[in-house]
Amino acid sequence: MESPHPAIERASRNKMMLGLFLPLQQGAWSPSKAPRGTSWTFEYNARCATMAEEMGFDLVFGLAQWLGKGGYGGEVRFRENEIDPFVTTTALAPLTRRVLLVSTVHILYGWHPLHLAKFGACVDHISGGRWGLNVVTGYKASEYRMFGMHPIAHDLRYEMAAEFTTIMERLWSENENLTFTGRFWKTEDAFVTPKPVHGRPVLVNAASSGAGLEYAARYSDLIFITSPAGADPAQACEALVDHNRRIKELARRQGREVRTLINPHVICRETEREAKEAYRAILENEDPVAADNFVRTFASGDTASWRSHSRSQWVIGGNVHLVGSPAQVVEWIEKLGRAGCDGIQVNFFDYLPDLQFFGRAVVPLMKQAGLRAD
Ligand SMILES: Cc1cc2nc3c(=O)[nH]c(=O)nc-3n(C[C@H](O)[C@H](O)[C@H](O)COP(=O)(O)O)c2cc1C
Repeated sequence: MESPHPAIERASRNKMMLGLFLPLQQGAWSPSKAPRGTSWTFEYNARCATMAEEMGFDLVFGLAQWLGKGGYGGEVRFRENEIDPFVTTTALAPLTRRVLLVSTVHILYGWHPLHLAKFGACVDHISGGRWGLNVVTGYKASEYRMFGMHPIAHDLRYEMAAEFTTIMERLWSENENLTFTGRFWKTEDAFVTPKPVHGRPVLVNAASSGAGLEYAARYSDLIFITSPAGADPAQACEALVDHNRRIKELARRQGREVRTLINPHVICRETEREAKEAYRAILENEDPVAADNFVRTFASGDTASWRSHSRSQWVIGGNVHLVGSPAQVVEWIEKLGRAGCDGIQVNFFDYLPDLQFFGRAVVPLMKQAGLRAD
């Protein structure tokens, strides 16, 4: 079994890894008009990232999307503005010291593996070995068309991703020029230096499908999983047992170990009643146009993720909804752990105050429950 990347080894001292899903997109996850200060700007995201680092979070992460003018629209102009995660995490490197910085990249939208191997090694170097790459293959036909490409069949995308990753890994690890003639990419006498600080960066994938999970089991250190049973935490925890078991078994067959992280939307207040009120306020202020466009776009893609989420669960956003007092939220996090998840990466509605409350009220209880070592 290969030895884990130092960032993963450090994070694994905690029973539950902790990540923050950065709000790089306008409106983050929730097509709702309820009042809040969440902002897509770099300054706001930098505050979220540095605050999360101070609270001991293991990673911060941003999603990548390509939308036309107006984003998903509605009054909130949902996701109209977005700062790119690769550029953002690079800029976060000198502002942080310890936290892992994970960038999402759609590797099939015109990149050559040499580009990403070089740029990635460079960010890894700038961050002192704290860079992670979330490899996504793009599930929306509209995005392919923006790049002047025809959409690529689902499973073929993962064959391409495998070759792409192999070439990057070789460029990161080998000390001679690389000549490679693959099915999809070629290179002649290519070389990357400086190398990534720890041999290779942390590799992440967010697959759900058979082909996606086969890829992730072979190449990824972390898998961002989704609930196969919608956002209700009780139903999710039940369904996640088999899902996690299957993923870990797939990796073991490759002689590898992968860790799974799920993405809860946390609505936590001093009391359950207040938390439920905050939950209701998001739903009651739904932006119907933005919500329709958001749900429709996902439904029309060919991803196996998020298939069981209802419309109202989409309006809250994120994957599993944890709503309640700090003790109740920690209880659910514990249950996600018992269902085989190695960690969570949280998102919020009103990021800075919600994150602050999470750090003050939830993280200490996670420590008490033995879920966090530091
Ligand atoms: C936590 C998380 C983050 C994701 N981030 C992105 C992203 O930034 N961009 C994107 O196109 N897809 C993203 N996805 C969606 C995955 O790429 C999509 O679910 C993928 O197509 C997996 O499904 P598949 O196995 O059917 O391919 C994300 C999924 C999860 C669970």
